[in-house]
Amino acid sequence: MKICVIGTGYVGLVTGAGFAELGNEVVCVDIDAEKINHLKQGKLPFYEEGLDELITKNVARKRLSFTTSLAEAASSAKIIFVAVGTPSRADGEADLSFIIQVAESLIPLLHDYKIIAIKSTVPVGTLKLFSEILELGGKKKGAHFDIASTPEFLREGDAVYDFFHPSRTVLGYDKPEVGKVLHELFLPLKSPILHTTSATAQMIKYAANTFLATRISFINEIANICEKVGADVMEVAQGIGYDKRLGEGYLRAGVGFGGPCLVKDLKALIRLAEENGYEARFLKSVLEKNEHQMRQIIYKTKQALQDVLYGKTIALLGLTFKAGTSDVRNSLSLKILKHLKKEGAKIKAYDPKGMEEAKHIIPEVTFTSDAYEAALDSHILLILTAWEEFATLDFEKLKKTMKQPLIIDGVNLLDADSMRKLGFVYQGVGRG
Ligand SMILES: NC(=O)c1ccc[n+]([C@@H]2O[C@H](COP(=O)([O-])OP(=O)(O)OC[C@H]3O[C@@H](n4cnc5c(N)ncnc54)[C@H](O)[C@@H]3O)[C@@H](O)[C@H]2O)c1
Repeated sequence: MKICVIGTGYVGLVTGAGFAELGNEVVCVDIDAEKINHLKQGKLPFYEEGLDELITKNVARKRLSFTTSLAEAASSAKIIFVAVGTPSRADGEADLSFIIQVAESLIPLLHDYKIIAIKSTVPVGTLKLFSEILELGGKKKGAHFDIASTPEFLREGDAVYDFFHPSRTVLGYDKPEVGKVLHELFLPLKSPILHTTSATAQMIKYAANTFLATRISFINEIANICEKVGADVMEVAQGIGYDKRLGEGYLRAGVGFGGPCLVKDLKALIRLAEENGYEARFLKSVLEKNEHQMRQIIYKTKQALQDVLYGKTIALLGLTFKAGTSDVRNSLSLKILKHLKKEGAKIKAYDPKGMEEAKHIIPEVTFTSDAYEAALDSHILLILTAWEEFATLDFEKLKKTMKQPLIIDGVNLLDADSMRKLGFVYQGVGRG
């Protein structure tokens, strides 16, 4: 099948490369000329395990190509996937300007019939808006297009794996013929396929993300109680997770949830509810808990440093919003870093993959070439992203070079007992 993917971000690139690997002919388009130039030269705009190889292989097979010309990308495509960003506006509502821009640019290009499948996470009502823009543009003389919702559930860091092993495929559409074509396209992925309306498909995506966020806020609430009563939240989470009704995912207590999706989707759902006359108080409390959790880490750090950050050197390990990615969008680590810096702390930061992206946002920080260099002469070590390489550091060596043996483990990565045996004053989250 001939496919066009609009937007070469995390979702668009993985979708494009994945469908090419399945034997389709895919053209990916982006308005960012620099990104497209880099992609044409084989350079990826971000780190995602396995994506590099997948792209190289399918470009060589001539099944995957990149362009800045939507006309070129869309002309012969039967299906157009829209995978542009839908960031948060200041009021929390989803900013649909990229989506609207795509709809407007498609107006002159729908000569032959196409299915437009929205992969971006968008609130209910967006597909109607998209159709109206195309219709107002005068192009729906005869059925030149149909529109569908195909929400994306990939996890950054495991995105390629998730493309080929999706937990489910959700297809939202009005006309059965559209469902049939999409079903055929997704069938080789061998996942359960849920056929539904576009409104339900979009709600599934928002409900899934807000539920993940809820689990994190829930376990963080439990962690804070554990701290008060001397229990260990890691074991509590393990004990919960064995129960099949509850499952074990997203029960790691820590600094809270950040990244490009959970916060923005939670805010967007709260706003969608509000616009429809419902106050989503439960969801608001999930968001509030998350803010509170991040402040707890700042508070613990200050407390460990006798309430004086000015003149203190902090080694900060982990800048990305989670391990396995170079993505620092809405990273809580960067928010904490900015706060500590504002109060006069000197930050030495290290991350295995996120330094280039972080440098654009916080250029004034000292970036080090490894964790040991960050720890050298530091008053405290903060771990804020659960990169496996931080768990296997030589902490005995590291301790000798620090000014004081203090560790705040904001992601519960290390073994508390081992750290204490080595002579560190160690604080995790909810660990008694
Ligand atoms: N990143 C994730 O883990 C993830 C997971 C599931 C769903 N989503 C959703 O998927 C959507 C895309 O997310 P992302 O992280 O891939 O975004 P991204 O910001 O990484 O990529 C979006 C891309 O779209 C391009 N773009 C914007 N307007 C365009 C236009 N008019 N024509 C062509 N290209 C255009 C941008 O230049 C950018 O390269 C969002 O709605 C997001 O919520 C993201």
